[in-house]
Formats: sequence, structure tokens, C-alpha cells
Amino acid sequence: MSADVVSLLGQIREVGRDPRGPGYQRPGFSPIERELREWFEAEAAARGLDVEVDANGITWAWATQPGPNAVVTGSHLDSVPGGGQFDGPLGVASALDALDRLRADGRLERAARPLALAVFPEEEGSRFGVACLGSRLISGAIAPERALGLADAEGDTFAEVAAAYGLDPHRMGPDPERLAGIGSFIELHVEQGVGLIETGQPVALGASIIGHGRWRLRFTGQGNHAGTTPMAHRADPVAAGSAVIGEIPRLAAGFDRAVATVGRTSIHPGGTNVIASAMDCWLDIRHADDAVVAQVLQAIVDRARDIAGAAGVGFGASRESYSPTTVFDAELTDRMAAQLPQAPRLPTGAGHDAGILAAHVPSAMLFVRNPTGVSHAPEEACEDADARAGAAALADVLAAELGA
Ligand code: GLV
Ligand code: MN
Ligand code: MN
Ligand code: MN
Repeated sequence: MSADVVSLLGQIREVGRDPRGPGYQRPGFSPIERELREWFEAEAAARGLDVEVDANGITWAWATQPGPNAVVTGSHLDSVPGGGQFDGPLGVASALDALDRLRADGRLERAARPLALAVFPEEEGSRFGVACLGSRLISGAIAPERALGLADAEGDTFAEVAAAYGLDPHRMGPDPERLAGIGSFIELHVEQGVGLIETGQPVALGASIIGHGRWRLRFTGQGNHAGTTPMAHRADPVAAGSAVIGEIPRLAAGFDRAVATVGRTSIHPGGTNVIASAMDCWLDIRHADDAVVAQVLQAIVDRARDIAGAAGVGFGASRESYSPTTVFDAELTDRMAAQLPQAPRLPTGAGHDAGILAAHVPSAMLFVRNPTGVSHAPEEACEDADARAGAAALADVLAAELGA
């Protein structure tokens, strides 16, 4: 096999294009994610790899005999709504390309450790609300009972969707044995900011992932008629929730480098001539200091209580997920740096499966330059030459890990 990272990405360019506009719609555990997974499985099988999908929906493709102290590389194939082409698939296609490079120049033959490629499902959490669902399940960062009860926007539970996807909900959950067999996990990812543009390099080493969490803010009021209810007699959760959203930029700006976002809301029942009975706002807060995340949350919750109280609207906040600041494995990253002496070390504000696995497995990341610095949007980009440089860098750090 030899299709390089650029032509591999070309093979899936049309899969999951957003029918509403530019970009992609590749929700976790959807027919689109399945089609992408099957593409990966076919590419892996064509290279003679043994492919298995585990109880949590994670795909493992063994390039050698499975065994202890394995080196694993991979990423995800799902996208955020309206996402770009590279967030996730670049790491998967680069893993296949890197494998081809290791084979072509005989390095795989000299490998002293096992090598596997992996694809993680529902990394973005765009469907069931919790990011990195596959890696959280296998590592025990989310209890299977809680994951199985999560519902998507259609009201379908993860238990139902997983069963329809061919997984057995009763078998989902932590798999410490499998994780104990991984000696190094390396995820390559498109850069999601401007760090590499600023340093003039095509490839960086991940240093850390800043602390990030998701909360659901729920405003509840009295559903009523839009034409017959005087303004003074309303308990309108949309008016209150929107006022809170409007204050978030000011509140977050009170904390140096904190970021807070509401990128998704849901209005119940949602009619033009209906005063809503409830509004849900999904809040994302991130900062390198976990204590600051808690402070930003408190500031937003306090303000929301005041605004909701004044509007006669009920208010509650619940945590959906939290990932503390994670520093990647120092020894693994130092060994990678020896292969890539030009590569800067960059922290990131984006979450990744490598960040979840890092609590159990020595984990590290490579970032590939994104000339727009935009991500989670159709404008996300990666030059062909940089993608190839990333795949070559991945091959080199894998070879070093494999002792080849
Ligand atoms: C996932 O990409 C995230 O950082 O939210
Ligand atoms: Mn990603
Ligand atoms: Mn993403
Ligand atoms: Mn991510």
C-alpha cells in the first residue's frame, strides 16, 4: 500500500460534508462515523493489519503481533458540527502514512516493540455532550452507567445508539488490562491555533492541555402565549439565559487568559409564538489553572442566579465533564524531541484523547501547522507539504519508540 497522508485524506473528503454549508457533520456513532471507521478498517486490512473494535467502540489495528509495552498512534474521525477537514482525520491518515514509511525503509522489521494504530469514537462529544467518550470509557473517566444514560438531541440514549451500532452496552467500561499493554501513545493532530505560524515550524510537540470543562445551565420559566402575555407578566427563560450569555465575555475577561463559551443552546419547546418554558445553555470554560476555571464558573453562576432571580426564572447548573490540566509524559516527549530538534513545544487549549489516556499511559502529541489558525470551523487548514512533514515526523518518533 502506498497512499500518502494527502491522498488518504482525499479518499474521505466527501464523506460527511455538511449539507447546510461548508465543513463537515460527522457525529459520533452515526452512519457517517461508521463509514469513516470502515474506510480506516479497509485501509488497515489492505496493509495486512489485524483489526478489532473493542467493547467501547475503539478500533485497534495491529501492525505487529499484539503484545506488552506497545507503541500506539491514532486519533479520531468524528467532527464538531460544521467542523474542518483535519481535526481528527489528519492523525488517523498520518498513522497509516507513517506505517507505510516504516515498512518501506525496513524500520518496522527491526521493531522491538508491538505497534498498533487506534481510532477513538465520539472524540468531540458533539452528539452525547461528553468529549472523548471512547477514551473516557476505556480509562474509567466516565462510568458506563452514566455514559449509557446520555441522550443526543433526538432523545436517543447512548445505550440505544451503541446497541444499534453493534456494541454490547453491558460490556462497556474500563479496560485496565488493555491500557496496561500500551507503553507509549502518540497522537498527531492539526494545530488548532497560531502557535506554529508564529514559530515558522511545520511540526510541534504537545506540552500540555489546559484544564477544560462543560456545564449545562438550565433556565426554567412559564411557557405561555407570545401574543396574549403582557411583558410584565412573563417568566421568560430565553430572555434571562440570553442576558447571561451576553455577560460571559465580560466575566471571563476578568481572569487573565481564561476562555468561556456558549456555543450551543436549546429552547423548549421552541416556537416563534411561544414564550419558552426552558432554555439550556452549554457552557465551556478553559484555563491552565484549574482553580481559575472554578472561579470563572462561580462568577458566571453567581451572575446567572441574580439575572434569573430578577426575571422570576428558575436556574440550575450541572457539570457534564471536566478534564484537569494535563502535562504530557516528559520522558516520551524528550525522546520525541531528540528526533525533532527543531520542533517547538506548545500547550493547547483543545482537548484530545491523548489527554484522557495520559492519566494511565505515557502519552504525547505532535501538532501540524494550520495556516489559518482556525479550527472547529470549515476554514481549518493544513498545507500538503506540512501534512507530509507531520507524517514523516510521526514515523521518526514511532521508529525511535519501537527501537527500530
Ligand atoms: C475538542 O476538540 C475540544 O477541545 O473541545
Ligand atoms: Mn481532535
Ligand atoms: Mn476538535
Ligand atoms: Mn478535540
